[in-house]
Amino acid sequence: MVFLPKFSLLLWILLSSYAILLINYPVKCGNDEKDDLYQGINKYRASLSLKSLTKNKNADCLADKIADQFKNQPCTNTTGANTVPGTEPQFSNYPNLLAKCHLAISDTKDGTVMPACVPGLASSLVLANFTKSLYSENLNDTQFTGIGIGSEDNWIVVVLTTDTPTGNFAPYSSDAQNLISKVGMIYSSMLLIAANIFLS
Ligand SMILES: *[C@@H]1O[C@H](CO)[C@@H](O)[C@H](O)[C@H]1NC(C)=O
Ligand SMILES: *[C@@H]1O[C@H](CO)[C@@H](O)[C@H](O)[C@H]1NC(C)=O
Ligand SMILES: *[C@@H]1O[C@H](CO)[C@@H](O)[C@H](O)[C@H]1NC(C)=O
Repeated sequence: MVFLPKFSLLLWILLSSYAILLINYPVKCGNDEKDDLYQGINKYRASLSLKSLTKNKNADCLADKIADQFKNQPCTNTTGANTVPGTEPQFSNYPNLLAKCHLAISDTKDGTVMPACVPGLASSLVLANFTKSLYSENLNDTQFTGIGIGSEDNWIVVVLTTDTPTGNFAPYSSDAQNLISKVGMIYSSMLLIAANIFLS
């Protein structure tokens, strides 16, 4: 019985520390149109007997930043999926957008960015804008293995990534991931040490 209060305090410390760790992971809401598109694109790939694209967090980040650049532009027949190849808008601040996502030209240059504008992001139209436009050639390309999707207002942006060092969108992020898990580990170990001292 002597252990009980100590034990429950320990439990409380552990539980609250996990709660703190969980709070640090942002919960994403309102991703329905992105999820729909993700699933739709992978169904399309499956119908062509191609492997599913896996979600790439850094490509997600870049897609969001690009969607953000588009958000005040109206949908016209010269934007998004309707763009004539070679006339895509170029952002002079593209390197900054990359940097915001801890990416560099070198690890993204084989990737591809595909913006589309669909009023209200109606999901069937959104999917058709990728699978029934020139973009379908990219979706049908075996070199792409990963995908990131971002949206803002009427704009939705798909970024495709490869599994090569020049298109995997990875290097910096894996450092960041390692850092987060290291901090998490140190934190847990400190708690365990504290708990041991407390219990002894
Ligand atoms: C866009 O639409 C306008 C008017 O509807 C038309 O004149 C123009 O040729 C179209 N542009 C393209 C690239 O389809
Ligand atoms: C893309 O979306 C637009 C709405 O912005 C729609 O009018 C157009 O038909 C769609 N394109 C394709 C190829 O489905
Ligand atoms: C996909 O690519 C293959 C081989 O490159 C080609 O034969 C096929 O027609 C393409 N399918 C579509 C829907 O683009």
